[in-house]
Amino acid sequence: MAVERTKRRGRERLGMKTVEQVRAEIPFLQTGIIYLDSAATTPTPQPVLDAMLEYFQEFSANVGRGLHRATRRATDAFEAARGKLARVIGAKPEEIAYAKNATEAINMVAQGLGLRKGDKVIATVLEHHSNLIPWQRLERTKGIELEIVRATRDCLIEPSEIEAVIDDRTRLITMTHISNAIGSIQPVEEVGKLAREHDVLFLVDAAQAVGHMPVDVRAMECDFLAAPGHKGLLGPQGTGFLYVREDHLHELEPLLLGGGIVESVDEHSCKLVEPPQVFDAGTPNIPGIIGLGRAAEYVLEIGIERIAERERELTRRMLQIADIEHVEVYGPGDLERRGGVVSFNVRGLDHHDVASMLDELANIAVRSGHHCAAPTMRHLGVEGTVRASVHYYNFEGEVEKLVEVLEQVARDFGG
Ligand SMILES: Cc1ncc(COP(=O)(O)O)c(C=O)c1O
Repeated sequence: MAVERTKRRGRERLGMKTVEQVRAEIPFLQTGIIYLDSAATTPTPQPVLDAMLEYFQEFSANVGRGLHRATRRATDAFEAARGKLARVIGAKPEEIAYAKNATEAINMVAQGLGLRKGDKVIATVLEHHSNLIPWQRLERTKGIELEIVRATRDCLIEPSEIEAVIDDRTRLITMTHISNAIGSIQPVEEVGKLAREHDVLFLVDAAQAVGHMPVDVRAMECDFLAAPGHKGLLGPQGTGFLYVREDHLHELEPLLLGGGIVESVDEHSCKLVEPPQVFDAGTPNIPGIIGLGRAAEYVLEIGIERIAERERELTRRMLQIADIEHVEVYGPGDLERRGGVVSFNVRGLDHHDVASMLDELANIAVRSGHHCAAPTMRHLGVEGTVRASVHYYNFEGEVEKLVEVLEQVARDFGG
């Protein structure tokens, strides 16, 4: 027993947490559900819950606002999460600004850059609404120009299509790393190089990538990267972060101003603290960020390369649904260009009905609809799709069950 325990600890230190171990540590996955909706949000492992509970029970104080020992402990734990997140994406701790989700992180860039009339922003037809609507607001209110680049039928962006529309008014290129609706992996490193060559800022929406696959902000040459805490990282809902390359830390105007970020104030002026703390106005989500720090450690304990490998294998198995009569799968055929997301329709059936049947027949949780990516749906000429998405913790048997039940649904009701 003792030897087994020692071996297990050794494996965990080496980034070898097994699927069974991870699975056993996630209470929600013990409820009998076949959870194939990780692209929406992920369940929380016990060590992350424990870190938050410890805060609530032992040092439930505010951060950066006092000298007593509970506030110092809370501040230390809150600040330590920056370093843990930075390790996941190859950044420095001071380049991490906390946010409540990926949407807020994107809005921090859209509102903080001071874009003006005539400036051009390039985005793609594959964006989540969260990386589209903030730029549309700037079109309306500031008179910027928003250029939307088309995708291939497989929902891939060709870097040359982006390069073709860069001009001397272009201030920023933004794109999703992995399409949340389709799962296609985009050539962010090539686009990062283009942005650098043309001296244009580059924001990556890595909502579906961070925690799922290796992400390296230096290799991408991005200036900003937005990520949620509650998806690939297995952190709690209500958390996310923005990577801000260090040379832009002072350029970005904070989205919120107020208490907790001030060095001195008089009636008409103030001096704010330095970044990244300047992005933390108001009482932040302290337990959430502490949990997110623990979650970042947790995915590093599993090993991000191992997560990516496993998701690739689970996706390979999910793609068996492409062979079912009446089923159409969207996105690239090449597994290397796919994250752990498979999006499909059953001919003759509404996508919501398919999702309801999977739930009713086998307690399989998938998402149906436009996935907050209506332009992508229009690009494909469909109203919506059914989307199954995985993480490291899914068993092969769960994916096989999806294929089996879908075969039954397509045979009995499709066509
Ligand atoms: C690609 C992409 N961008 C942005 C978001 C928004 O993330 P959040 O819900 O954390 O704001 C999502 C969420 O699904 C997403 O998949």
